[in-house]
Amino acid sequence: MKTLRVGVVGYGYWGSKHVRVLGSLPDVEVVVIDPDPARLAEAQRVHGLLTCAPRLEDCLDVIDAAVVAAPPAEHPRLAMTALDAGKGVLVEKPLALSVPEAEAMVDLARDRGECLMVGHTFEYNPAVWKLKELIDSGELGRILYIDTARLDLGRYQADCNVIWDLAPHDISIVSYLLDEMPDETAVWARRHVGVKHADVAYLRMSFSRQQISAYVHVSWLDPCKVRRVTVVGERKMAVYNDLSDNERIRVYDIGVSALEPDDVHAMPVSYRTGDIVSPYIQFAEPLLVQDTHFVESVRTGSRPATPGERGLDVVRVLASTDEAAAAPEAVGRIRSLGTAS
Ligand SMILES: NC(=O)c1ccc[n+]([C@@H]2O[C@H](COP(=O)([O-])OP(=O)(O)OC[C@H]3O[C@@H](n4cnc5c(N)ncnc54)[C@H](O)[C@@H]3O)[C@@H](O)[C@H]2O)c1
Repeated sequence: MKTLRVGVVGYGYWGSKHVRVLGSLPDVEVVVIDPDPARLAEAQRVHGLLTCAPRLEDCLDVIDAAVVAAPPAEHPRLAMTALDAGKGVLVEKPLALSVPEAEAMVDLARDRGECLMVGHTFEYNPAVWKLKELIDSGELGRILYIDTARLDLGRYQADCNVIWDLAPHDISIVSYLLDEMPDETAVWARRHVGVKHADVAYLRMSFSRQQISAYVHVSWLDPCKVRRVTVVGERKMAVYNDLSDNERIRVYDIGVSALEPDDVHAMPVSYRTGDIVSPYIQFAEPLLVQDTHFVESVRTGSRPATPGERGLDVVRVLASTDEAAAAPEAVGRIRSLGTAS
């Protein structure tokens, strides 16, 4: 098989992981592109003999495809430079920081007939596949709501807020699980440190076709690292904890049924409790699964499972959160009890 030369554009925290997994694939050669000489030196120290360059424009003759893992504000320019030169491109999440830019990327890929894929890593995660299987098989019953939490003392980003940084994962996971994009968002977002971007946020996404709400909590300012998706069904509930080694999904056979008692003082619900089961999930590194899929898509010309259009859909949801955050909040005033002082 002909060697595929993949340029990894941005050798930071995440780009270095792409270099590791792409470098492990057969018949793939990696070229590292980063304007920071210290990052290029680090790439060479870790990976030995490796072609490195400071600018994508200077490498277009020596690469067949590109993975863009630079800061999000750079994604459109870098991806479009590569697409324009006839290269298939995988762009990290979020695809772009605005809808018009994401649309331009998708349009260019379509015009050029090139592969544009977005790095929604969790859609290549066997635990997320298992969660979807549990929903689709009906084991959980009708889905009542989904709740996600992605918290940490996180990496503050210079060019976007915590929603644009972390919530692409939750939007992609939940819409993948439900096979539906949300059509409305409500947001509470606040900045606690620094002068620029919100670092703690709560979102509600409404999926009107299935009449399901999903609640998303994202934070760069939390003492506990949490990566959790909870799916609450009428029959059972499932919790996906991405930080667990061997019980990433737990299915709780518990539930609550509404009662219509005659007596106004009686309990309005009945409870059911049962087993907690953790299904076996074959481990596969999601980034490896994702990048293998990208390489295959470029080689075969097939449409990737997460094409640019999917990245655009998520950017549309993210853009709606900016609009929602700018809208005046409805607040409930707490009236004083009027106790005499
Ligand atoms: N899928 C995931 O789970 C996941 C996880 C972390 C980060 N990410 C995404 O990966 C991207 C990078 O994030 P990060 O945390 O690695 O950031 P980072 O700041 O650690 O690294 C970014 C790198 O890009 C380089 N860079 C800047 N401008 C460039 C340009 N014009 N050309 C080439 N390189 C350039 C910087 O020098 C730096 O080395 C972001 O889009 C982020 O959202 C995805």
